[in-house]
Amino acid sequence: MTINNFPIEAVGLDFGTTNSAIAIVARDRAPRLAQFEPGADGGTRAETFRSILFFEATEDTGGTESALSVGNAAIRRYLAASGNGRLVQSLKSFLAVRSFQTTDIMGEDYSLGDLLAPILIALRDAAEAQFGPLPRRVVVGRPVHFSDAHTETDDDFALSRLDVAIRRAGWDEIVFEYEPIAAAYDYASRIPRDEIVLIGDFGGGTSDFSLVHLRPGTAGTSRARHHEILGNDGVALAGDAFDGRMMHHIVAPELGRGTKYRSPYGRVLPMPTWPYTKLERWHHLSMLKNRTTLYRLRELEHDALEPARIAALVHVIESDLGYYLFRSVEATKIDLSSEESAKFSFADPPVEIGRIVARSEFEAWITRYLGEIERCVDRLMEAVGVRPGEIGSVFLTGGSSFVPAVRRIFASRFGAEKIHLGNEFTSVARGLALRALED
Ligand SMILES: Nc1ncnc2c1ncn2[C@@H]1O[C@H](COP(=O)(O)OP(=O)(O)OP(=O)(O)O)[C@@H](O)[C@H]1O
Ligand SMILES: [Mg+2]
Repeated sequence: MTINNFPIEAVGLDFGTTNSAIAIVARDRAPRLAQFEPGADGGTRAETFRSILFFEATEDTGGTESALSVGNAAIRRYLAASGNGRLVQSLKSFLAVRSFQTTDIMGEDYSLGDLLAPILIALRDAAEAQFGPLPRRVVVGRPVHFSDAHTETDDDFALSRLDVAIRRAGWDEIVFEYEPIAAAYDYASRIPRDEIVLIGDFGGGTSDFSLVHLRPGTAGTSRARHHEILGNDGVALAGDAFDGRMMHHIVAPELGRGTKYRSPYGRVLPMPTWPYTKLERWHHLSMLKNRTTLYRLRELEHDALEPARIAALVHVIESDLGYYLFRSVEATKIDLSSEESAKFSFADPPVEIGRIVARSEFEAWITRYLGEIERCVDRLMEAVGVRPGEIGSVFLTGGSSFVPAVRRIFASRFGAEKIHLGNEFTSVARGLALRALED
């Protein structure tokens, strides 16, 4: 439990919808991040761990069993298993969903805790392999409002489920901190003077905001208590929701959304929307892979005015192409953060989609979400009673803060010169570790 012979003093854990990270601090008070194996495509940063599980079907004499893998290993195994198993992701989005009690994975019932624990244990194991045994106390990030939480009781319910899973990973003193407040601790080292700072953390599942009166570089010192939290707010709209819009506009029409079929009574009807709703939350797509649904889709294909598109939809479901489609969508979204237009291409015959997407189109597709994010920021400013001119700087972090339209919300309200960016994937974990030095 030592770094250069100094004991580890504090641990911060950022369990993210898409990416997780864990940081420790020793006596030098510099956060250090645990390292993980990078993704096969080199795209995933080694300081983050994909919050993803794969249950691989393994034939055995007594029936079908499953082997579990987590993080980038889960993605690798999934890609090699050609659909033979179940990929589980965005688990954080289900924490507040009371109806999610257990889920059947290859004949076994799993509670949400059963699914969360392997990810949390993997994070802890990686940190211990690198730094030695960890203290029993951990500070863990939480969104201001969890996805699907409508009341404070829902948020508390989500927290209690997360708390139980973290205990299963071996911690017994757990403190929760708002994710944007954690990011503020990371950002504090960068400000030269006292100021009111607006923090925006845009992740996969949620966009969270805090207004904090910060003093320079005081995190983890006795002066840190003089940080004054003025207010927090958040919405459950971020990168996953942006991906959903791209699926809706680029992929779904190619798979028959908006086309028609002739009913047995000769009436021409619009295709039902349920397959496409599942496609937009691509990890739900695998739920359509059952005999009854595929039979219904085959009937629709037979009656469709554009049967090739429905055949393509059936192919996507039967061959479990949801993850591959999502990867293509995400790659285009990421390109659009730095380019004015980007190519979307996906080929797995009979599905073949190739088109150029302009950034302006993407921005039009997510307008409603951008509006909700803007209203959330305005609501927070109003609730706290701070005028834009009183904000010293704005710190934007999280993977979805790369989206230019997200940045523009802040540049237009506070001025481009006040916007600061950085540590997009690690600021929350670093800040949680600094926050863990207190109390
Ligand atoms: N360059 C980029 N442009 C646009 N979006 C990006 C970029 N890089 C990553 N993203 C998106 O950022 C999201 C992941 O960000 P991050 O790791 O901060 O989320 P998270 O911490 O897992 O989620 P949350 O904080 O909501 O629980 C994904 O939706 C990903 O597609
Ligand atoms: Mg996050």
